[in-house]
Amino acid sequence: MVTWNPTRRNVRILLVGDQGVGKTSLILSLVSEEFPEDVPSKAEEITIPANVTPEQVPTNIVDYSALEQTDETLSEEIQKAHVVCVVYAVDDDETLDRITSHWLPLIRGCCSADQRKPVVLVGNKVDLVEYSTIDNVLSIMEDFPEVESCVECSAKTLHNISEMFYYAQKAVLHPTSPLYIMEEQD
Ligand code: GTP
Repeated sequence: MVTWNPTRRNVRILLVGDQGVGKTSLILSLVSEEFPEDVPSKAEEITIPANVTPEQVPTNIVDYSALEQTDETLSEEIQKAHVVCVVYAVDDDETLDRITSHWLPLIRGCCSADQRKPVVLVGNKVDLVEYSTIDNVLSIMEDFPEVESCVECSAKTLHNISEMFYYAQKAVLHPTSPLYIMEEQD
């Protein structure tokens, strides 16, 4: 079980997800507070100083690109991260399906069973649709207790962008224990 860690001195956030879901755009939108029209395949690692983060902890944000990185590098990055944001595009069901068929099992496979990595599910591109995918995501959370929270956002309109990174920080610094909570509710 993950526990509160008041002594953590930094938070390392890794973004993964299928190609084209908007990982790089999310990072660059957060940093520049505007939507980048042209994005590289992978953003440089970014360090956000403690005084501008909601939890006052220096935060590193790490992008992933299948074009530039091998499966081995990805596995190393997952192990180094304190929290993994699995990004999908709300207008592309296949990217949502791949959360359970690919990404969450892959993340579990990189960590020992007693040390599950906290995960935040991020539905990007909400500017393109008029529905919500949150119901689908809530059912994923029931099956994968390492999923600490979920958020729908848009790198384009900046909707919920800072919230997304706040949830990721919070998943590390103040993790809940969904298994325990669900057992209590029974
Ligand atoms: P890979 O590098 O291939 O893994 O892609 P990625 O997940 O980093 O996605 P990227 O940021 O390169 O964005 C892919 C495309 O989606 C680009 O054309 C972006 O402009 C577009 N895009 C990203 N975020 C949004 C969004 O919130 N809304 C809309 N409408 N388009 C977006």
